[in-house]
Amino acid sequence: MIQQFKKIERIKGELELRGDKSISHRAVMFAAMANGVSVICNCSDSEDVRSTMDCLEKLGCKFEFLDDSIKVNGKGFKGFSKPENDLYAGNSGTTARLMSGILAAQDFESVITGDESLSKRPMGRIVEPLKVFGSDISVSEKGIMPINIKPSSTLKAVNYKLQVASAQVKSALILCAIHLDEESVIIEAIPTRNHTEKLLGLRTEKDSSGTKIFVSKKNYPQPFEITVPSDISSAAFFIVLALLTRNSEIVIKNVSLNETRTGVIDILKQMGGIIEVENLIESKGEKVGDLRVFSSNLKNISIPETIIPNIIDEIPILAVAGAFAEGNFRITGAKELRVKESDRIKSLCQNFARAGLIVTELEDGFELDGKASIENIIFDSCGDHRIAMAFGVMSMLMENGGKVNDFECVGVSNPNFVEQINFLNSSP
Ligand code: S3P
Repeated sequence: MIQQFKKIERIKGELELRGDKSISHRAVMFAAMANGVSVICNCSDSEDVRSTMDCLEKLGCKFEFLDDSIKVNGKGFKGFSKPENDLYAGNSGTTARLMSGILAAQDFESVITGDESLSKRPMGRIVEPLKVFGSDISVSEKGIMPINIKPSSTLKAVNYKLQVASAQVKSALILCAIHLDEESVIIEAIPTRNHTEKLLGLRTEKDSSGTKIFVSKKNYPQPFEITVPSDISSAAFFIVLALLTRNSEIVIKNVSLNETRTGVIDILKQMGGIIEVENLIESKGEKVGDLRVFSSNLKNISIPETIIPNIIDEIPILAVAGAFAEGNFRITGAKELRVKESDRIKSLCQNFARAGLIVTELEDGFELDGKASIENIIFDSCGDHRIAMAFGVMSMLMENGGKVNDFECVGVSNPNFVEQINFLNSSP
């Protein structure tokens, strides 16, 4: 489906977004692991989290969808049953990688597959460290799906230093180690999102080598109730649109403001964005607050490479902000973008070039120069939800609007994007 966007003159209003995708994946998995009934409010309604629920249903877990919550009947320690078929993770790297950690510790065989995009993404990054824990897990020679997991009698607790700055890899190892009597220590040199540690209440220690995360069977989840805060990664698209549209002011309610995720706000503020945090509270270890955003004049800044894992999902929309800001946008140290739902360095460079910007593609980033000059073009979503929404926003900032192809892929993280834009655009 080609989605057409007109230039937006002004946006206004108060927006409630569905729950953070990363926290929702984990809430659903931990509830399924716990022994008894858990309740999840404001769970993400994304296709990705649905993929996690589908996999857990095939392992015997039951979900009851109530008006304002999901009731999860958890299976308890090693209570999952052998799936009759392969587990299909769809487009979701988080589903495939975190479920691999859980399944590596079960007493039955399982196979995880995914869609065309996920089937190209690197899985060696979880397979190698899970083998260090003694698990029997393998992928194809190229390090891609299907992921084949067999029961292992040699599982053992280990001290493991992460080789890649990835919350998905870290979480896969934690979820395997949480089935073991002895304590494992997972060491993370570069901080990545820490929702797994927070939701499970894991002990962590910081020293010169980074953060040490301690985990054993003692940390196995118990039934719980949670209200998932709104997704900051989905909010980022509306924040940038509000900053760059004249006479605009929006409020996004109850946004997850976990410090491993707020790099996008820090950068936009440094660029001159007026973003205020209101009603800040802490709930289940996670900070939550309302974001009030005003039209602003943005200037490009130098983005430090150390912040990249914190902003990895927001780089597409930050680049759109950079394309309309004073000065040139440049990002480096972001090679991980090449192994996301699409090769996001390529996807971004191709689309910015289509709009008439001068683009320099680097191995680990890119640079943008000039101004968007070619109007009402069709941007290519590359089947990637964040690319689709980023160029949807770009279209709404261009004089004659623009179009984005295969726009339905936004359902992977936010099926309500167009509705939410229409709401903000029509508020008095
Ligand atoms: C996620 C971690 C990040 C992020 C992804 C969600 C998670 O991936 O890009 O969208 O929920 O753990 P990596 O850990 O592979 O960087």
